[in-house]
Amino acid sequence: MLILKTVAEVKNFIKNVKEADKTIGFVPTMGYFHKGHLALMKCSKEQCDVTVVSIYVNPMQFGANEDFKSYPKDLERDAELAEQAGVDVLFVPEDKEIYPEGFNTKVEVGEDLTKKLCGIRRPGHFTGVTTVVLKLFNIVKPDYAYFGEKDIQQLLVIKRMVRDLNLDVEIVPVKTMREADGLAMSSRNAYLNPDERKAAAVLYRSLLKAKKAWEEGERSAEKLCDIARDELLCEPLAKVEYVEIYSYPDLKPLDEVKGAAVLALAVRIGKARLIDNVILGVEK
Ligand code: PAJ
Repeated sequence: MLILKTVAEVKNFIKNVKEADKTIGFVPTMGYFHKGHLALMKCSKEQCDVTVVSIYVNPMQFGANEDFKSYPKDLERDAELAEQAGVDVLFVPEDKEIYPEGFNTKVEVGEDLTKKLCGIRRPGHFTGVTTVVLKLFNIVKPDYAYFGEKDIQQLLVIKRMVRDLNLDVEIVPVKTMREADGLAMSSRNAYLNPDERKAAAVLYRSLLKAKKAWEEGERSAEKLCDIARDELLCEPLAKVEYVEIYSYPDLKPLDEVKGAAVLALAVRIGKARLIDNVILGVEK
């Protein structure tokens, strides 16, 4: 596996791959790998000739009071895991490679997708995500790029960017990988102490409770959210940020859940801000 640090090195590598008519799969990440990241790499390996993974903790997508400075890092372990996963190139740029002096451009998807859920609570977050992801796409020029359903709003925002800007990349969604108790894998789970880690199982439990009610015929968006919220409130360590339902995949507000919908929540436990979601009404 090659570990490349500059844009020029990656572009040069990609040029050779393209000349050999090989397909490129790309997995953008912020590192501190877990099984969710590895699942994306596996999908890319299965589908593409060459797999490129990036590790970059993108300052533009963090708010002033967020965890940019404390975001967990372990490049040595990540490199080992990527190598074992069969990754061909690990791209680990420094800030000046991504945001050279004078950088002053933003890529912004419209408010219908970005001014709700995490977009309201993290102003500017999705602009940071789309700006860096478009840059990475332009450097790596992937045929396929893999994104986790855990970050469902991010996945939908990226898909919209790709469609609206006619990018030649296919976005491939990958199912959420979970711990045995249902907690979605996340680099931020590392912030949890043992009690908080136990408490964090409440996120998925709440989603499943609401999903069960939906399966049993409940269609009121408000009631479904209340069912999930009530379960969250049973856990004293969980501070609820939001529990919301929107139509899927266009994220329109709903009173009644008629077609496909996404029930999403964000919860603070200790120092961690955790998100999760379930999709209702789509055959998986
Ligand atoms: P990061 O949080 O490192 O996630 C990288 C990718 O892994 C994202 O597509 C995310 O949805 C996926 N992922 C995270 N947890 C997962 C899980 N439990 N199961 C399946 N997939 C999971 O998301 C980002 O980084 C950044 O915003 C990025 C897209 C790299 C832009 O900076």
